[in-house]
Amino acid sequence: MKENNFLYLSRKDVEAVDLSMAEIIEALEVAFREKGEGRVEMPPKPGIHPGGGDNFIHAMPAYIPALESAGIKWVSGFPGNTQRGLPYISGLLILNDVETGLPLAVMDCGWITGMRTGAATAVAAKYLARPESSTVGILACGVQGRTNLTALDVVFPLLHVRAFDIDTDRAQAFAAEMSSLLDLEVAVVDNPRDAVIGSDLVVTSGPILKTPHATIQPGWLDEGAFASLVDFDSYWHPLALAEADRICTDDLSQYRFYMNEGFFRDTPEIYGELGELVTGQKLGRQSPRERTMAINLGLAMDDMTVAPLLYRRALQKDLGTWLLR
Ligand SMILES: NC(=O)c1ccc[n+]([C@@H]2O[C@H](COP(=O)([O-])OP(=O)(O)OC[C@H]3O[C@@H](n4cnc5c(N)ncnc54)[C@H](O)[C@@H]3O)[C@@H](O)[C@H]2O)c1
Repeated sequence: MKENNFLYLSRKDVEAVDLSMAEIIEALEVAFREKGEGRVEMPPKPGIHPGGGDNFIHAMPAYIPALESAGIKWVSGFPGNTQRGLPYISGLLILNDVETGLPLAVMDCGWITGMRTGAATAVAAKYLARPESSTVGILACGVQGRTNLTALDVVFPLLHVRAFDIDTDRAQAFAAEMSSLLDLEVAVVDNPRDAVIGSDLVVTSGPILKTPHATIQPGWLDEGAFASLVDFDSYWHPLALAEADRICTDDLSQYRFYMNEGFFRDTPEIYGELGELVTGQKLGRQSPRERTMAINLGLAMDDMTVAPLLYRRALQKDLGTWLLR
């Protein structure tokens, strides 16, 4: 830290740090262990809703003593931005010094949000999916479709991907990009059913809606499959959710907070938290035939796990712009 200054990291700077998905998954597993042991401070996220509808801007603070990380993300999600050619998710993160409370850095949080959400899916899948899982269905081929697939590819011996998006051009672009990036066979499918049936791992990553469109029907998710519901229950019919043998979330108190807000009206009882799986307080998958699900809501802790890694590596690489406090 420079006297009286803090570091600003633009989106470009954050990307230039070049933190790998494998590093983020590893760090996040440590953070979930800390959370499971009760050593993370993280109040539920307050939010405002300009324009109403499904728009949100959330404040997400967290303190993780073991990672010497404290700070807050101020993040917005505006579904209409896709039509405007703007990112659905955008915002800034402030990293504070744990000794003095002074701001160390302000950074763009788009890349962080994408990567840490994918990493949280991978941590959940490590405990809930079959280790030999090789076929993935991605429903919605945006930022989250990309980062979730990238993260799953770190943990599983992936071979085949079925990609569905309501916008076929987006699905085609996704297939071209991800097949060459990850050296996988990525096929575009023209209906959601074909992305779910026959997949070992399923990721739904479309818009989060208070009233689910509930497209995925009972009987689609194979026995033994794992699904990550990045867009909450928006994609799933209540009877399809009812087929799950084990549903976990990243934070039960935030899950209940969202229930009070009107989400998850027809979702079955949650089995446990990710932190409980990582610490062994609760068991993960118990048989090759179970259908398992993770509903990770996205935690401030996830962001504050990545932020100090970025900050330290940015200092080493001399990236960013120093601003006067
Ligand atoms: N749970 C979490 O931790 C977490 C974290 C970040 C983002 N999210 C959520 O993930 C979702 C995706 O975010 P993003 O940044 O990838 O957005 P994005 O705009 O990059 O991508 C969204 C994609 O969804 C497609 N789409 C819309 N409706 C669809 C449908 N019914 N079926 C298939 N495709 C559909 C769009 O064409 C677009 O390609 C958002 O709902 C966001 O709020 C969740």
